[in-house]
Amino acid sequence: MKTPSRLFLLTGAGVSAESGVATFRGAGGLWEGHRIEEVASPEGFAANPALVQRFYNDRRRLLPTASPNPAHLAIARLQREFPGRVTLVTQNVDDLHERGGSPEVVHMHGELLKARCVFCKRVRDWSGDLDEETRCGDCGGQLRPHIVWFGEMPLALDAIFEALGACDLFAAIGTSGQVYPAAGFVEMASRHGARCLEFNLESTATSPHFDESRTGPASRTVPAWVEELLECQDAEA
Ligand code: OAD
Repeated sequence: MKTPSRLFLLTGAGVSAESGVATFRGAGGLWEGHRIEEVASPEGFAANPALVQRFYNDRRRLLPTASPNPAHLAIARLQREFPGRVTLVTQNVDDLHERGGSPEVVHMHGELLKARCVFCKRVRDWSGDLDEETRCGDCGGQLRPHIVWFGEMPLALDAIFEALGACDLFAAIGTSGQVYPAAGFVEMASRHGARCLEFNLESTATSPHFDESRTGPASRTVPAWVEELLECQDAEA
């Protein structure tokens, strides 16, 4: 194995599952008890802002009870050991990569710990609850969770596409490959010649596009892979 020069890591809910943060799909998943469009669409927010704020308040309140697991820590270690060579893009809205020590994280689906004004669009840090009366301190507009809902454009796509075109190793960790555009990243990276590696408990909709799939809990498979990469780098030095 040759050490890759540029790595692109895409994480999904599976990387945080062992930290106690619910995934979206499957038994016990967040979407099981909700109609997605009710709590994750601009139309749902317009129809029932109280319900939507409550849904994200509940998620936000749970964050302090979760801690980064060995997969978050291993990813942060990789970023530190390969400075400037690892792009970490997460679909997760939790802060476990940051608390696991990752120096840079792109949250393409937003962040629970931020709120955005629906009027002036200013994004600010937010750790408490939001309700229909919570207003922007600048313009008085309504504040909403800084979360990308269905029908909205994911964040930082230009930088993401640039990094995808430049990587020679693409890894998807704990994502079901069912939500676009993230689900299409593996095909883009592969077209550009990157080797593509998947980490999941099971095979997914996008597994056929990967060169290799490693099955098992991310807390075990990801640290083992990072160890391999670091050993490989040492051997080349
Ligand atoms: P999903 O809930 O769709 O998928 C989680 C994936 O993680 C599944 O494929 C599981 O098999 C896998 N998994 C679970 N536990 C794991 C573990 N311990 N180790 C490894 N893999 C594990 O979550 P996402 O793919 O992240 O979007 O969902 C993508 C987007 O759909 C989310 O960002 C969210 C949702 O709608 C928005 O809210 C915009």
